[in-house]
Amino acid sequence: MENKKSLWQKTKIKNVELNNRIVRSATNEHLGTLEGYITDDYIKVYENLAKSGVGLIITSHMAIDKNQKADSTHISVNDSINDEKLKLLTDTVHKYGSKIVAQISYPGCRQNKIEGKPAKTPSGVDNTEALSYEEIKQYINNYIKTIKHLKEMGFDGVQLHMAHGYFLSEFLDPYYNRRTDSYGGTAKKRYQIIHEIVTEADKIKNRNFIILAKIDTVSKTEDNDFINQQIEVSKWLEEDGIDAIEISGINFKKYKQSTPYYLENALKIKENINIPIILVGGFRNTHQMEGALSKGIDFISMCRPFIADEDFLQKLKNGEQSRCISCNKCFEIYKTQYKRCVLRNDTIRQLEINFKN
Ligand SMILES: Cc1cc2nc3c(=O)[nH]c(=O)nc-3n(C[C@H](O)[C@H](O)[C@H](O)COP(=O)(O)O)c2cc1C
Repeated sequence: MENKKSLWQKTKIKNVELNNRIVRSATNEHLGTLEGYITDDYIKVYENLAKSGVGLIITSHMAIDKNQKADSTHISVNDSINDEKLKLLTDTVHKYGSKIVAQISYPGCRQNKIEGKPAKTPSGVDNTEALSYEEIKQYINNYIKTIKHLKEMGFDGVQLHMAHGYFLSEFLDPYYNRRTDSYGGTAKKRYQIIHEIVTEADKIKNRNFIILAKIDTVSKTEDNDFINQQIEVSKWLEEDGIDAIEISGINFKKYKQSTPYYLENALKIKENINIPIILVGGFRNTHQMEGALSKGIDFISMCRPFIADEDFLQKLKNGEQSRCISCNKCFEIYKTQYKRCVLRNDTIRQLEINFKN
């Protein structure tokens, strides 16, 4: 009964129990070291999120390969450098009853230029380097290795980042994927790399470990037909074993209004699948959140409200709305002397440490 969903009720994704329907969407905290290590400040952010009562926390994008990061502060998880801290991270979050899912990705076109290496992408557009067939197979193996590793580190699941112009979203987007082999040419072939990853990942799942996907419903060229492809992609993801899909779009930064701007697209997808839909983008008050739940959305995901206020959930419970005005200055952290949010006075200490020379 869709209209009975409430924001604060206990619920589940597959068998993973959640204290409410609030999700903290993946957010780069800029709290990794330049070598990709997790810092104590990073753990503190997650401890605060869990303490504040977030049902499901999705981590910052974690790099599958420490030599391919979208931002120099990204955490990397492809070897054992972070094992102790990853375990501390998951234990800390679990202590407060929240669940934690690691978002993983290659950066694709988004690769940090500071690394000085060419970005690897499906077809080499925008001055990048096209992946060979053999490299694609290697990348698929690396996804699977990483998922197994994160399961051992105590995560409740992994989210495959296939949105916002990152690696897997580039395979789905015809602008980036111009391949003519088995990984491009039709929507189904553009999906093929994801099919291989998700079907292998499905074998790693168990009662306590889920696999999620974050997808775009708007493409680089804002082509009107893209949503129809993504409806098909969502059906394929469900068939292949994905447990819930988070709906986003590559152009989320352009929306200045505080409103869930991908709701219509999310509902089109919801009509076609039976797994839970997590909607992200623009939620700032309870009224919008309950409205989306009553229309059929299963989880409300947010990023910038948690950046603006660490005690955002308490404010929400008190009937207040987020102060966030979607100014996107939290993306321009290198230009604002590492200020986390223009509405806050504090700066990110780790960035000062990373770049003090
Ligand atoms: C500073 C910042 C860092 C972000 N980092 C990630 C990320 O690592 N992975 C991701 O999928 N999305 C990332 N996002 C996008 C958010 O998860 C979310 O999709 C977007 O901000 C829209 O939601 P909001 O209106 O609640 O902020 C980031 C957004 C911001 C503002």
